[in-house]
Amino acid sequence: MSDTVNSNRQTLEARQVSVRFEGLTAVDTVEETLHQGEILGLIGPNGAGKTTLVNAMTGFQAPSSGDVLLSGKVISKLTPHGIRRRGIARTFQAGRLFREMPVSENVEVAAVSLGYSRRKAHAHAMELLNWLGLDDRADVPAGILPYTDERRVGIARALAMRPQFVLLDEPAAGMSDLECDDIMQVVREIPERFGCGVLLIEHNMRVIMGVCARIHVLDSGKTIARGTPTEVQNDPVVINAYLGHS
Ligand SMILES: Nc1ncnc2c1ncn2[C@@H]1O[C@H](COP(=O)(O)OP(=O)(O)O)[C@@H](O)[C@H]1O
Ligand SMILES: [Mg+2]
Repeated sequence: MSDTVNSNRQTLEARQVSVRFEGLTAVDTVEETLHQGEILGLIGPNGAGKTTLVNAMTGFQAPSSGDVLLSGKVISKLTPHGIRRRGIARTFQAGRLFREMPVSENVEVAAVSLGYSRRKAHAHAMELLNWLGLDDRADVPAGILPYTDERRVGIARALAMRPQFVLLDEPAAGMSDLECDDIMQVVREIPERFGCGVLLIEHNMRVIMGVCARIHVLDSGKTIARGTPTEVQNDPVVINAYLGHS
């Protein structure tokens, strides 16, 4: 992608980001720039550092070295809330919903916390739930939802903040083929509908290959490949990394 094409779009950049835990480098000098309007896949075997990189890009984990930049400005010193306020939303592998609270309120609180009026937040939440096929679940406590619906609520909650970037951590995990088709359609629509850049972590290759224009592959914290779905799929280093872990 040329710089000219993206010159006036927002960017979310990991610049030489490393995250070290005692004795373990979970993310090792990773470089990536996510552009508004694109869908970037982040893949790699379990323990590759995908979630840790997302944590670093959203303020949940301070990088040990390197920086995270939003449109050229360093944001890695900010709190998760500070980063959310700047328009970077994420989902979690585990739902992290308020279990006693109705589904709609789980989505509303995200918008309210960023300054939307209750009424606006409710209308917006219902629009999102409708789009995700969850409108008939709006009034049930989030805690009774099946795991796969929790994922969808997590996406609605992230998008309720009208972010510029949304980072989705394995949204299709545990979903059937049919549910995967639905989630693929949802992810595909995000850039146009919300004007967002999307980073998608996903193990299901059909989902990744079906929605991402570009893929970044991590293994043991390091970038081992980057490219189009076809390039990455045929890369011997990538094939080896996956076989080595299975
Ligand atoms: N808070 C933490 N403390 C220590 N080690 C961690 C922590 N979080 C993650 N790790 C380790 O960092 C590595 C990368 O983990 P993670 O980012 O969750 O991988 P992935 O999401 O690709 O499966 C793993 O070895 C994991 O055990
Ligand atoms: Mg993970």
